[in-house]
Amino acid sequence: RTVYVNGDYLPENEAKVSIFDRGFLMADGVYEVTSVLGAKLIDFDGHFARLQRSLDELEMPHPAALDSLLEVHRELVRLNEIEDGMIYLQITRGAPDDRDFAFPDPGTTAPTVVLFTQNKPGMADSPAAKTGIKVISIADQRWGRRDIKTVQLLYPSMGKMMAKAAGADDAWMVEDGVVTEGTSNNAYIVKGGTIITRHLGNEILHGITRAAVLRFAREAQMKVEERAFSIAEAQGADEAFITSASTFVMPVVEIDGTKIGSGVPGTVAARLRDIYLDESR
Ligand code: PDD
Repeated sequence: RTVYVNGDYLPENEAKVSIFDRGFLMADGVYEVTSVLGAKLIDFDGHFARLQRSLDELEMPHPAALDSLLEVHRELVRLNEIEDGMIYLQITRGAPDDRDFAFPDPGTTAPTVVLFTQNKPGMADSPAAKTGIKVISIADQRWGRRDIKTVQLLYPSMGKMMAKAAGADDAWMVEDGVVTEGTSNNAYIVKGGTIITRHLGNEILHGITRAAVLRFAREAQMKVEERAFSIAEAQGADEAFITSASTFVMPVVEIDGTKIGSGVPGTVAARLRDIYLDESR
C-alpha cells in the first residue's frame, strides 16, 4: 500500500511517526473513516466538516494539509486502485520534545497527518446485510465527549471483544437506562413504521451516515423520531439497524438473545440501505 504521512506518499513500511507523538502517548488525535464505492468517495463533505469540528473542539490547530485533503483522498484511491474500501485519516497534535500532559504551545509542534486505504472489494454487497447482525448490550463507559471523533477507542474495542465472547457481532452501549449508540455505529429501531434514533448531544457521535439516512428517510415521507430508547423497547420493536461509513445501513436481528420482529432483516432497513447506496454513489 501507498500511504500518506505529512505531505509524502510512501510505501507503508517506510512511513514513520515519532514515539513522542501525542496521538501515540495521549490518544490526543482525531480521525475520520470515509468509504469508497466504485472508486468514488462517499459523503466526503460531511466527514470533512466533522473533522474540522473535532479539531476545533479540542483546540487543535488546523494543519495546512487540510486544504488539500480531498485531493489526498483521491490520490490514495488512485495510487492503491481502490474500487471499494475505506480511507482512514488521523490528525494528532504532533510530537513535542518530551511527554507532557499540557498541550504544546501552538506553532511549536507540527500536527501529524496520516492517511491510508483499506481495500474491501464488494463491501456494499456484504452478506451480513442479508442475514442481519446480533448485538448485546453493555454499559457505556466512554468519556463524556463522544461527539468528538477521537482515537481513544479502547472501550469500543473492549465492547467488540465482549460481543465476540458472547457470540454476537457488536454491542450497543447503555447509559442511564437508554441506548447511546453502537461501538462504532449509530443505533436505530423501527416501530409502527417510525424510525427512532437517539437525539444528538455530547453522548453520541454525530454520524455522517446518520445525517444522510435521516434526510433520505424524511424525503421519502418516512416518520423519524430523534429520541432515546431502552433495550427493552428495542427488543419489542419491529426492526432494528445500525449505520456507519463502514456498514452503511445494517440490519440488527437480535439484541441480548431476543429476536427482533420475526428475527430477519426488516423492510424499512432494507429500503433505507438501498436508498442510501443509490443516492450516495
Ligand atoms: N465509526 N458512532 C461511533 C461511536 C462511531 O465510531 C461511528 C463511526 C459512528 C458512525 O459515524 P459515521 O456514520 O460518520 O461513520 C457512530 C467509524 C466507521 C470507525 O470507527 O471505523
